[in-house]
Amino acid sequence: MLYALCDLSDLTTLPILSKMGEMVPETIKKRVENLREEIEYHNTLYYVLDQPEISDAQYDRLLRELEKLEEEYPELRSPNSPTQRVGASPLETFEIVRHTIPMLSLANAFDETEARDFDKRVKKFLGSSADITYIAEPKLDGLAVELVYDRGQFVVGSTRGDGIHGEDITQNLRTIKTIPLQLIRKEIPAPERLEVRGEVIMQLKKFKDLNRRREESREPVFANPRNAAAGSVRQLDSKITAERPLEIYCYGVGEVIGRTFKTHSEILQIFPKWGFRTNPNIQRCQNIEEVLEYYHRMNEKRETLPYEIDGIVIKVDHLDLQTKLGEIARSPRWALAFKFQPKQETTKILDILIQVGRTGALTPVAVMEPVKVGGVEVSRATLHNQDEINKKDVRIGDTVVIQRAGDVIPEVVQAVTSKRKGTEKKFRMPSKCPVCGAEVIKEEAIHRCIGLDCPAQLKGRIKHFASKRAMDIEGLGVKLIHQLVDKGLVKDVADLYYINKEKLIALERMADKSAQNIIDAVEKSKTKPLSKFLYALGIRHVGETTAEDLARQFLHLDDFFRLSEEDLMEVEGVGPEVAASVHQFFGDQKNKESIELLKKAGVKVIETKVKEKGNFEGKTFVFTGTLKTYGRDEARNLIESLGGMTASSVSKKVDYVVIGEDPGSKFDKAKELGIKTLTEEEFKKMIR
Ligand code: IVH
Repeated sequence: MLYALCDLSDLTTLPILSKMGEMVPETIKKRVENLREEIEYHNTLYYVLDQPEISDAQYDRLLRELEKLEEEYPELRSPNSPTQRVGASPLETFEIVRHTIPMLSLANAFDETEARDFDKRVKKFLGSSADITYIAEPKLDGLAVELVYDRGQFVVGSTRGDGIHGEDITQNLRTIKTIPLQLIRKEIPAPERLEVRGEVIMQLKKFKDLNRRREESREPVFANPRNAAAGSVRQLDSKITAERPLEIYCYGVGEVIGRTFKTHSEILQIFPKWGFRTNPNIQRCQNIEEVLEYYHRMNEKRETLPYEIDGIVIKVDHLDLQTKLGEIARSPRWALAFKFQPKQETTKILDILIQVGRTGALTPVAVMEPVKVGGVEVSRATLHNQDEINKKDVRIGDTVVIQRAGDVIPEVVQAVTSKRKGTEKKFRMPSKCPVCGAEVIKEEAIHRCIGLDCPAQLKGRIKHFASKRAMDIEGLGVKLIHQLVDKGLVKDVADLYYINKEKLIALERMADKSAQNIIDAVEKSKTKPLSKFLYALGIRHVGETTAEDLARQFLHLDDFFRLSEEDLMEVEGVGPEVAASVHQFFGDQKNKESIELLKKAGVKVIETKVKEKGNFEGKTFVFTGTLKTYGRDEARNLIESLGGMTASSVSKKVDYVVIGEDPGSKFDKAKELGIKTLTEEEFKKMIR
């Protein structure tokens, strides 16, 4: 197998030649090995154990040293090097891997009686009435994978597949930071062969962020975090996987050669010592009653967890008992999945309302009799669009099944047609916008208001413009946006920079302090990197990634008024649709005027400096004293636009302290800690 050839141990036996055809010095080989081990160790401390010992900057230094050595001595490159976590060349297809020991599935229980029956079966099979010690774990809703380690090196990673054969997704799994590329051997030596099993998941928040970005760039969204995790892990191009926020929790072993265990809990205890992440909610239970208590506790906790679980898994702790119990019908007799009630409910649709978004898209929303789904009261659910309503044949007055996937917007799954009385009404999208009365047109599945002055669109645009990832105007929430638009104080995003405190105070429930906070937040948002500004404009098809790509290619905002569609298409990832949309946006007179007004109000768009990015990437800066050239926020935004970070106090984690006029105690602290200081001139040179 290919991986055996790339195994690190070969590096010590093969004669290794450098780029120039010279032998690679033994000291370099050793340094590369040590660096890889050290980086993996710190990676585990950071991502798996959440106990970092070194600063990000120190970690980056180690990684850069390794990158440099691998650049100089390409023969030393290894697929298991931490430098390879960014992904490898795309594959044509996945190879098939046969699991040494089949990856079984679990028998299910849906209520306490079935869970107790499981306990009875176990005891009966073992011919004993003594309490059984169980390990209870959350049943994570992701994708099961197997990781194979050969003398401590990660060599193959695969999907569960049909349990016997899976797909070889090694390249993709290497990009997941919570998967060790080599085992830590500080405390416990690496076994000759170790097969580890676990679940790859995507956290709910990360899933929502991913979907939001996909929606913005008009890519199909994932239905739930599990699909997002599975879709990301099964990419032929591992560079795409590397960009997806995936993580793993390990919960078991397959074949192990060179190490024995007595209990499942022993395996779970050793896992983190080797660098594998285990779930913090796992519990040892002395009997089935404790398991049932755990089940109820987890069912309650479920809503607060950052990832989705759909039940608990119960495992007999003693491995010799597991062996005695064996398996039946492709499931072990020693384990059980005890599922939670599905987060589906039935309720009645009272009405269907229409929401108009910032692009004018009309979304039908079902208003329902309030009902609790998975512990949370729900009274609204999205119906997506008219085509979806037609497909599901959902009518006003219908009894419907609704579901919630995590805290994602609830959706209507289907109508319960057997409950129809004949009084239900079919829903039709209006031909005029319910907010502004302008004409509604249909573009593929989407109905869209084409009104130029639609207040709903304006509210949506302002919300997007002020959002955290755009101009980041803190405190400008939906309620205030509604007030500002309804009172006619804001007719365009640029008007936000012209409101004064008096006008704000005149609004309902607006105190002096809150008004001042808004004014300050608006002021603070004035300096922004080009990418954020482009994104804030809400140009159709331009999500965060496209905005960043555009800003990297064309450094100045003013360029965009001159660019042709062909010019725009030179940017990687920008196709005709995006190019046409950007071109049309900057050609529009109203948009030109709005950008002019923003500039006049003092909004400063900082060009994206790409070449120097390396100087700032991952570096932390602190300012002390007054700078002559930049305001504090401006300097902060500048550093962030170049990939750096800023902090307010000096600590060992800080890389540079920039000294302005009349510096404070931070200057002394920097000297005391031996942190590099920069004069304003030196800082400016670094930026140029
Ligand atoms: S143990 C024979 N532990 O559930 C033991 N599985 O239906 C099988 N799963 O394919 C695996 N969380 O994807 C185990 N803590 C956990 C789990 C877990 C989720 C999934 C896994 C497996 C499926 C079995």
